[in-house]
Amino acid sequence: MESISNGIYYREQGEGEPLVLLHGFPLDGTMWDEQLAFFSDKYRVITPDLRGCGLSEATETTSMDQMADDVASLLHRLGLRKAIVAGFSMGGYVLFALLRRHPELVSGVILTNTKAEADTEEGKAGRAKMAQSIREQGAAAAASAMLPKLLSPAASEEQRNRLQRMMLTQKPQGLIAAVLAMADRPDSTAQLGSIRVPTLVIGAEGDTIMPFSGAEAMAAAIPGAVLRRIEGAGHAANVERPELWNAAVREWLDAAF
Ligand code: MLT
Repeated sequence: MESISNGIYYREQGEGEPLVLLHGFPLDGTMWDEQLAFFSDKYRVITPDLRGCGLSEATETTSMDQMADDVASLLHRLGLRKAIVAGFSMGGYVLFALLRRHPELVSGVILTNTKAEADTEEGKAGRAKMAQSIREQGAAAAASAMLPKLLSPAASEEQRNRLQRMMLTQKPQGLIAAVLAMADRPDSTAQLGSIRVPTLVIGAEGDTIMPFSGAEAMAAAIPGAVLRRIEGAGHAANVERPELWNAAVREWLDAAF
């Protein structure tokens, strides 16, 4: 089922404990299509398009906090009191904001190919440049910058084309708001030690944006966190090796809930 609520578009499949999957940049909720199908046998899987992304409405500016509030409002409107929430990359930044602002809504945390640190000054300058190229060239600027970084060299043509199509259909205004919002996000490192719900941290062997060493350090800082490594995958590990990603998450879900 697909719906729009307060400007936020989402897909929903299955019944059971809610499992909310938050996508990365410059992508949308369809990056989770394999997970929507796979986990809906036992879970109520919800894949929103974050503000400005996919089919959700774009605003001129946004923030990780506002995206997290959108997710919280969506859960409230669906009558859900708690959910296991997975955040991929930018979705992980939104998940940290959700944990700060609405901790009561989160019953389990999956941090996949993401990090807790804020941008460096160099990183922020890169974001400003990316925003400018999107203003000048549209979504193609984000797609050409990101495509080489999302998948490992072993990924298939079909996977590359799928991500490229997804990126090219994004609204420039939404991309600009999201990239500048990422630059503005706070550092979440100090939060890691206070996460009190079951947590799974996933990194990938070939992730050049968020190296596996970062996932290891993040897992070590979260009490009781489980760490898994996806072999033969780049940054978008759930897209490139869905069978490995799904199996790792399934095993953890079965043990933790
Ligand atoms: C993402 O995949 O969401 C982005 O690479 C995150 C980022 O640029 O920091």
